[in-house]
Amino acid sequence: MIEFTQKHLLTLADWSPADILVTLNLADRLKTMRKNHVPHPLLAGKTLAMIFTKSSTRTRVSFEVGIHELGGYGLFLSGGDIQLGRGETIADTARVLSRYVDGIMIRTFRQSDVEALAQYGAVPVINGLTDDYHPCQILADLMTIRERKGELAGRRLAFIGDGNNVANSLLLGCAKTGMHIAVASPEGYEPSAQVISRAREIARKTGGSVLITREPREAVRGADAVYTDVWASMGQESQQAERRAALISYHVDEALMGLAASDALFLHCLPAHRGEEVAPGVIDGPHSAVFDEAENRLHAQKAIMALLMGQPETLCKI
Ligand code: CP
Ligand code: NVA
Repeated sequence: MIEFTQKHLLTLADWSPADILVTLNLADRLKTMRKNHVPHPLLAGKTLAMIFTKSSTRTRVSFEVGIHELGGYGLFLSGGDIQLGRGETIADTARVLSRYVDGIMIRTFRQSDVEALAQYGAVPVINGLTDDYHPCQILADLMTIRERKGELAGRRLAFIGDGNNVANSLLLGCAKTGMHIAVASPEGYEPSAQVISRAREIARKTGGSVLITREPREAVRGADAVYTDVWASMGQESQQAERRAALISYHVDEALMGLAASDALFLHCLPAHRGEEVAPGVIDGPHSAVFDEAENRLHAQKAIMALLMGQPETLCKI
């Protein structure tokens, strides 16, 4: 029997280390099946509603292709087109969609809206990115690190730059899997204080650790993976100039990568701004795993959907 008891993916804080490993194992299996052209219609006849109130390339395409490959149907709902954009409440949207679909994926601004969808709806809710978290991304990142480096526990990851939604979820994901995470950000751009203390508490139990520093070189020294993200996230476009000034020295270039382990991976959730948070020679260089990482969104999310929306007995058979 599969040990997985989650109803939603709202934040990795709610998921146990075992839930994460079950998901990564299933994602690996689904990746192999796809490569070998073995059909895997684990969600035949099911529908996923996908609400987007922010832009997306990877999340939209990987969820839509993913549900299709699982034998289901993906319904794209732009926030501007549905009544949510005209003021219908999240609670009513959740209740109504639950009468039609088997799961809801949402990308939006407020984490509280994702939590309200789960509270008022009757179907699984998957967080496709909020201002606070990006858990689907981090499951794909962990999958990528594991396939390149083996077991996650004890691995070192350095995140350089803005302590944003991706950094918050990386703190939780690394802590849950017993990894050592170091985050280097300038003053005022640190990850959430509440997430840092939660990650530290989790890491104490898993054998991982959390280092928060101002110094990119300290974070990167000996790292197995170096990660960065844009300096202005979606919704922060008007702060572009001030963020650039604050984060200019948190740029991942060849010299910084040179301090990491000699076989270190470079990771970025994408989209990237070459010449800002990352040098072209790094993101397009030999250490970069960013396109495997993007591909793994598909496999990781198929596993997430299959576990949350499927039948456990079907999963046992694959
Ligand atoms: N990494 C990621 O979530 O990409 P999109 O914004 O293109 O979905
Ligand atoms: N931090 C970025 C991630 C994009 C996938 C943003 O929120 O825009």
